[in-house]
Parts: sequence; C-alpha cells; structure tokens
Amino acid sequence: MALTTDFRLDGRVAIVTGASSGIGHRFSQVLAEQGAVVLAAARRVDRLEDLAATSERIHAAACDVADDAQLEALVERAVADHGRIDIVVNNAGTTDAVTPAEHEDPALFRHVVDVNMNACFVLAAAAARQMIVQEQGGSVINIASVHGLVAAAPNAQAAYAASKGGLVNLTRELAAQWAKHRIRVNAIAPGYFETELTEAMFVGEDAGLRYIRRNTLLGRPGELAELDGPLLLLASDAGTYITGQTIAVDGGWTAR
Ligand SMILES: NC(=O)c1ccc[n+]([C@@H]2O[C@H](COP(=O)([O-])OP(=O)(O)OC[C@H]3O[C@@H](n4cnc5c(N)ncnc54)[C@H](OP(=O)(O)O)[C@@H]3O)[C@@H](O)[C@H]2O)c1
Repeated sequence: MALTTDFRLDGRVAIVTGASSGIGHRFSQVLAEQGAVVLAAARRVDRLEDLAATSERIHAAACDVADDAQLEALVERAVADHGRIDIVVNNAGTTDAVTPAEHEDPALFRHVVDVNMNACFVLAAAAARQMIVQEQGGSVINIASVHGLVAAAPNAQAAYAASKGGLVNLTRELAAQWAKHRIRVNAIAPGYFETELTEAMFVGEDAGLRYIRRNTLLGRPGELAELDGPLLLLASDAGTYITGQTIAVDGGWTAR
C-alpha cells in the first residue's frame, strides 16, 4: 500500500518571514531539514546569519515586512537565486501592548494590522503571481493565532485580535481564488508558546502562566516542536487536499 504521507520538500523553495526568532526560526530549520531551500527573512540580519550557518539550505534575507517593495524583492530573490518559489510561511508578527481599546493608539493599531495581516496579503500575492507562471501549484501558510478565532481579552489587544481574525478570513478568500491554480492557502492558529513575543506571560509562576494553564485543556503551554507536524502537513504533498483551513494548535484553548 502506498501511503500519502510524504513530508519531504526536496527541490522546493520556501520563504519564511519572522525567521530571526521563535516560531519562524524553528520553521526555517524544519523546512530545510525536510529538504527545502529556505529564504529566512526578518530585520535582524545578524540573527539570520547565525541561523543560516546551521544549514547550507538556509539563506538570510533582510526584510521589513511593513515595506511592500521589500516583500516583492523577497520573491524576486527566490526566483533569481533559486529558480522558483513553492512555499510561503507568513509568520512575522507583532502585537500591541495590553491596553483597553478605548485608549489604544490608532497609529499602533494600524501598524500591527500592517505587519500581521496586510504584509501577508502582499507577500502571498507576489508569490502567487510567480506560482501561477510556474504552473505547479504551491502552499501559502499564514501564522494566525487563537486570538484570530476568539477574543484576546482579558489581555486586551484589539489590534492583535483584529489582525489575526482578518488573516483567518483572508486565508479562506485567497484559497478560494487560487484553488484553480493549485495554490493551497491555509493558516495555523497557535495557542501560547514561549517566545520573545509572549515572554511576559512566562515570567516565574505568575499570573500569565497560571492563566495559560487554566484556559488550555491540556493544562500547559505548547512546545515549539509541537508545531512541526502541522507545518509539514500544510507545506508538503501530505496535505494536497487541504485548503482554506485554519488549524488550531492550541492544546484545546478554542475547544471550550
Ligand atoms: N508565541 C506564541 O504563543 C504565538 C501564539 C500565536 C501566534 N503567534 C504568532 O507566531 C508568529 C511568530 O511569533 P513568535 O511567537 O515566534 O514571536 P517572536 O519570537 O517575537 O518572533 C517574531 C518575528 O517577527 C519578526 N518581525 C516583527 N516585525 C517585523 C517586521 N516589521 N518585518 C520583518 N519581520 C518582523 C521578528 O523579526 P525582526 O524583529 O528581526 O524583524 C521576529 O523574527 C507571529 O505572527 C505571532 O503572532 C505566536
């Protein structure tokens, strides 16, 4: 019996944004480990160079995702240096400080939506134009959040919740538009994982960690390695019939 569980990515070219730390750093290594060439993008190039030194298939790519021209240039570089683009992981993300919405700075709100949602659209569209020319399909993976599915409050973060909720429905819309080109578009909605973004929640045994344990069915935060399987399912030929979906990897946060 031939199993349809081929998670290898040999010959594929991927872009991962937000690769200088946390989830994107891990995802770059996971995709490269499975055989993909990876353009690892972020603003902190020194960190990307350290990452690139861990695998000959990982290449550092300076990019501020708030700048459309730099996103277009990422796809151009993938094609110029590696001949194609097959996988885009829209992972770069930022958040607003915990602030009641009535006092939130509108400029900060717009910036968070720009980085977390608008940039995902611009990069996905640039990559899709190339994937359509290649005529071999592709996979776009948007890193959303449980707070794109349910409210963030009591950690009041209106911009973060709005941007991630928008990203979840953008995922459906792009999947619907590009299915005819065999470009699959899916999202992963993580619960809480310890990274620079969430480090304030993980200080000691304090309120943050207790809050995570109380609200997660499995009673603990996630380990970064627990995102590897969902990533590879969506990126590889093991997931060729999955599109328009958001997979919550949240220890049951959204099941209640
Ligand atoms: N950790 C969690 O519990 C959790 C839960 C749900 C969703 N997520 C999502 O997962 C993604 C990764 O977050 P993380 O937890 O791994 O946080 P992280 O360690 O703080 O990483 C965030 C990454 O985004 C990059 N970034 C931020 N602004 C950028 C910009 N303007 N241009 C380019 N890159 C930018 C940062 O790189 P530079 O600063 O070097 O540019 C960094 O590599 C985010 O979308 C986040 O919302 C995380």
